[in-house]
Amino acid sequence: KKLGILISGRGSNMASLVEASRADDCPYQVILVASDKPEAAGLAWARAQGVATFAQSPKGIPKPEYEAKIDAALREAGAEYIALAGYMRLLSDDFVARWRGRIVNIHPSLLPKYKGLDTHARALAMGDAEAGCSVHIVTEELDGGEILGQAQVRIEARDTVETLAARVLAEEHRLYPRVVAEWLNR
Ligand code: GRF
Repeated sequence: KKLGILISGRGSNMASLVEASRADDCPYQVILVASDKPEAAGLAWARAQGVATFAQSPKGIPKPEYEAKIDAALREAGAEYIALAGYMRLLSDDFVARWRGRIVNIHPSLLPKYKGLDTHARALAMGDAEAGCSVHIVTEELDGGEILGQAQVRIEARDTVETLAARVLAEEHRLYPRVVAEWLNR
């Protein structure tokens, strides 16, 4: 199955998907890494790995036109599914409808807790015993679609946003390739 990945920055989750896709029994190939930030570090990494890339800044372009360019790049590359990996832009209802049920995202909280930004700071402020990450289907509701898989991380008394984020990120890198493979195998 042909997977396109959208990123905005570092792209470490994208890299974990690309690396996992090289296994013989992996059900997906990464056919395009696209970014709204031409300077995203993840784009350079993907290029160096021989993965096709596409960059389109949304600056000065109406949102429908910007999304049409992303959509066209994905379709021209043959994408059948989309994985969001640190893509920091909200997709329009229209875009979601055109790819209904075929977009997944990874979010750094135990959804339905802490949708949106600053998830680790909010988990620490609430005194939670556990944090984690979730992979979910993308719908029109932000961070709201069906949850396909989660991983938990225990919160330690000495945790800061940085230490917690680092431990959750390590789990994200294990969770995302596994759940995407299960999803595309089902
Ligand atoms: C990850 O924590 C992901 O859960 C969130 O944004 C971050 C992206 O990191 N959506 P990276 O670009 O994959 O390294």
